[in-house]
Amino acid sequence: MDTSYHTPVLRDAVVSLLVRRDDGTYVDCTLGGGGHAEAICERLSQRGRLIGIDRDPDATAAAAQRLSPFGRKAEIIRASFSEFPVLLGGRGIEAVDGILFDLGVSSHQLDDSNRGFSYRGSGPLDMRMDPSAELTAGVLLNERDAAEIADILFTFGEERYSRRIARRIVEARQRAPLETTADLSAAVERSVGKKFLRKSLSRVFQALRIAVNDEFLELESALHSAVEMLRPAGRIVVIS
Ligand SMILES: C[S@@+](CC[C@H](N)C(=O)[O-])C[C@H]1O[C@@H](n2cnc3c(N)ncnc32)[C@H](O)[C@@H]1O
Repeated sequence: MDTSYHTPVLRDAVVSLLVRRDDGTYVDCTLGGGGHAEAICERLSQRGRLIGIDRDPDATAAAAQRLSPFGRKAEIIRASFSEFPVLLGGRGIEAVDGILFDLGVSSHQLDDSNRGFSYRGSGPLDMRMDPSAELTAGVLLNERDAAEIADILFTFGEERYSRRIARRIVEARQRAPLETTADLSAAVERSVGKKFLRKSLSRVFQALRIAVNDEFLELESALHSAVEMLRPAGRIVVIS
């Protein structure tokens, strides 16, 4: 089976920290290609259960293939993880033994230039984890004012040249709308020069991805719910 979708980090550590009962119920809130979920399922007995959630249909499709040998032990749901208490409630699950968050994007998402997550290679200014969501990086960069763009770059990317970059973005879009990640990279390069370009590009792309996917609000909401849904002695594992 092709397991190249994403190589899960800390696979053994995650399983040993998370799984305390092999007949328990566990939630992987960031399923990705299912690498961690597979390791959790291997550790569970036939009475154990894993619910895997991801908002990216590419991820749920890859994970469905990878987890198919586990049959009914593993269930996959395509949704945002902030919805997980409702999703679990709908399945009659009121409490769980462990919840995993492996934050950020998968290597599969980063490597696919059509998703627009990476400054390496050129692709559309998309950056949505859920392709049915309305807000793309392109909409944000072409429609928001300079102050709002600068705030996003500073708050979510800690980019010290946030204002200068935001001004260059607005100047560039007055000539023609920004359409590709290469257009964005060019505006960043015009702002910071070549010497620190890679670092600024990483921060700018990270900031936009966080804003487009509302990652902080998602996490805040899910962590509150996670604490409430955990059984006594249950565990929450977060990889950031
Ligand atoms: C680092 S990858 C996880 C990789 C996974 N642990 C594995 O073993 O392949 C993060 C995944 O979380 C998903 N994700 C991020 N935020 C999400 C959210 N709020 N709701 C649902 N899925 C989310 C992304 O689409 C991505 O597939």
